[in-house]
Amino acid sequence: MLVQGQRYRTIWEHPEDAQIIQIIDQRPLPHQFVIEEVRSVNQMAKAIKEMHLRGAGLIGAAAGYGMYLATLEALRNDHTQDYVLACGEQLKATRPTAVNLEWAVNRQLAALREVAEAKERVVVSLKVAREIANEDASYCQKIGEYGLDLITNIADKKQDTVNILTHCNAGWLAFVDFGSATAPIYSAHQNGIKLHVWVDETRPRNQGARLTAWELHENNVPYTVISDNVGGHLMQHGLVDMVIVGSDRTTHTGDVANKIGTYLKALAAHDNQVPFYVALPSSTIDWSIDNGIIDIPIEQREGEEVKYIQGLSNGVLTKVLLTPEGSNAANYAFDVTPARLITGLITERGVCPASREGILTLFPERK
Ligand code: MRU
Repeated sequence: MLVQGQRYRTIWEHPEDAQIIQIIDQRPLPHQFVIEEVRSVNQMAKAIKEMHLRGAGLIGAAAGYGMYLATLEALRNDHTQDYVLACGEQLKATRPTAVNLEWAVNRQLAALREVAEAKERVVVSLKVAREIANEDASYCQKIGEYGLDLITNIADKKQDTVNILTHCNAGWLAFVDFGSATAPIYSAHQNGIKLHVWVDETRPRNQGARLTAWELHENNVPYTVISDNVGGHLMQHGLVDMVIVGSDRTTHTGDVANKIGTYLKALAAHDNQVPFYVALPSSTIDWSIDNGIIDIPIEQREGEEVKYIQGLSNGVLTKVLLTPEGSNAANYAFDVTPARLITGLITERGVCPASREGILTLFPERK
């Protein structure tokens, strides 16, 4: 995607030294564009946990590269394979809800299982890390193509600007490129369809107001930031033609865990007959659990994120306290939208109903 006219991915190898991984530090966005160099598995684990980078697809790709850094450390320090296994556990523990993290670590471990020689393990894990990152980008591009058909249908019927509501940032910054929920939006925009995006601010970390707004702005897509409670009102007044959100974990039965507040948008969409789509690459599907509400672990983060807000004050990034100092604050980071509220899932293999049967029509090898 474009940043001031220049193409970027969200994670890449240093052009002169592939032992250094470069990432965009998302914390100071949209006010500062900072590139961070990651040189160790500890640093990668910290970057994921403290959300220098974030979003299901991107933390999967970061975990892939984290495992590669672990094999480099094992080679340099003569560590046994147990070291790499322990690094895998360390990475998996950083964030519990997005399944891509665990999926990427397991994919690396499966590839490394048969490789005994430490030097060869570095070669193999770099190859796998690149595959995970490239696959993430190409799957999101495909999601864009399938989602484009849905937007085109609405545009053809309406013969006017298509209004799309999105929550959080399931954009380019949450993946390696293109994004999941935003990929159809970028495709439609490039294809000349007139559209406008309602961007939920997404408290407490404001990924919508800070990140989705920045992405859309950089790519000249018309948008309006709204506070989190506005969506239902807009839907009641016919101002939303469709909702597209991302997912951090989708059960093979079609329940979707996504950023906190998604469920309320799905309820409002259902009540107003607004189509509610979830865009996700198959790396986000958890094939092992049936009931999203019971089985998906929901990350709880520090209450400080709720009590404080960050922004620019006289040109300086500043954090300010919103609540009485001693307030308790609960910070549930995700919620689960049951399959029955979802119109369809947009995947790299096409669009399907959010149900076991629907998902299996696209992924028959999982039967
Ligand atoms: O806590 P975050 O910012 O890592 O949340 C994950 C997300 O990016 C959103 O829930 C998003 O909508 C899912 S798509 C990656």
